[in-house]
Amino acid sequence: MKIGIVGTGNISSRHFFEFSNIDQVNVEAVCDTNEDNLKKFLSDKNNKNIRGYLSLGEMLEKEKNFDGISNTTPDKFHKETTLQILDKGYNVFCEKPLAENYEDAKKMVEAAKRSKTVNMVNFTYRESSAYQKLVQIIKSGEIGVPRHVSACYYQSWLASNKWGEWREEDKWLWRLSTQHGSNGALGDTGVHIFDFAVNAVGDIKEIFADLKTYYDKGKKIKNYILDANDGFNSLVRFENGAIGTITNSRFATGHANSLILEVFCSKGGVKVELDEERTKWSTLHICQKEKINEMSWEIIKCPKTPSNYQNFVKSIQSKNNLQPDFSQGAKIQKIIDSCIKSNDNNSWIDINN
Ligand SMILES: NC(=O)c1ccc[n+]([C@@H]2O[C@H](COP(=O)([O-])OP(=O)(O)OC[C@H]3O[C@@H](n4cnc5c(N)ncnc54)[C@H](O)[C@@H]3O)[C@@H](O)[C@H]2O)c1
Repeated sequence: MKIGIVGTGNISSRHFFEFSNIDQVNVEAVCDTNEDNLKKFLSDKNNKNIRGYLSLGEMLEKEKNFDGISNTTPDKFHKETTLQILDKGYNVFCEKPLAENYEDAKKMVEAAKRSKTVNMVNFTYRESSAYQKLVQIIKSGEIGVPRHVSACYYQSWLASNKWGEWREEDKWLWRLSTQHGSNGALGDTGVHIFDFAVNAVGDIKEIFADLKTYYDKGKKIKNYILDANDGFNSLVRFENGAIGTITNSRFATGHANSLILEVFCSKGGVKVELDEERTKWSTLHICQKEKINEMSWEIIKCPKTPSNYQNFVKSIQSKNNLQPDFSQGAKIQKIIDSCIKSNDNNSWIDINN
């Protein structure tokens, strides 16, 4: 199976590693508009047989018969590059967020439908086997119906140097600037935590969001105006009657990359906590039956589940588009747009209006 990658920055190495580790799958060509990033990627010892191009157009012209293309460009370029790939009839694995806004996301869904291709958005944290089990337990009704949800995503790269110096590196600076196509923490990591909660609990009906940009961290570095939000809190009402809080921060000291989801249902509770090193990704906590009055939690170790990369390949082979697809990406995008609207108007937003 022949895979291409558009964009050879930070996350592209993960795509390369994951696809290369699947039997019969090879990353054969990549492109990047930044020559330094392209050269760096190609000079890596593992990447020596890969053909590199300085634009997607050139790669699509010179390379034939891709089975799938990974899109790892920054958010701002997802729509334009994905439409180009779909236009050639190739299956697409696109990084999150699907687009910069819901209107663009919808266009991508429609184009994918027209081209009858496999389409997927990389909501990475679905890969946690404990999370998969949590979803299965809630959907089975075994612990009753969801009542109360607490979901938070903590990072601290604005308060630490764990991932490098954010003031110096373009890969962090574009994430802080709306002019560079970022919706801040909300668009970058908020999409993950909303997908996490919605996929487990059900659709959101109404939302109230408070976004915050900390200007004391600086207003401008190089040509980046640092105006995108650094974190948010949201109150949500789900269609099924549950209520919850969904929050996210880039200033959460002590957390490199933690996602915590707790869902309290009418007959029990379940929770997962994902960490940077993936040491907790298979650990599910559940409190039900006699444990309810004991206030104790049982720990369930969950066997590994397929990665999004494996599911993308499987979808192509079986011609059955597994989740999360572009429609899910667009659904989450609508929530992001609603959060921005809620913050601007200081009011609750009905997601379906
Ligand atoms: N799923 C996850 O957990 C996860 C993690 C990190 C990043 N991401 C997403 O991946 C995307 C890339 O993030 P990153 O950290 O790798 O960014 P990055 O800035 O390190 O890399 C992006 C690369 O794309 C290149 N590029 C820009 N426009 C292009 C174009 N038109 N054609 C070809 N190449 C182009 C840039 O030159 C750069 O090398 C973002 O959308 C981000 O949200 C997802």
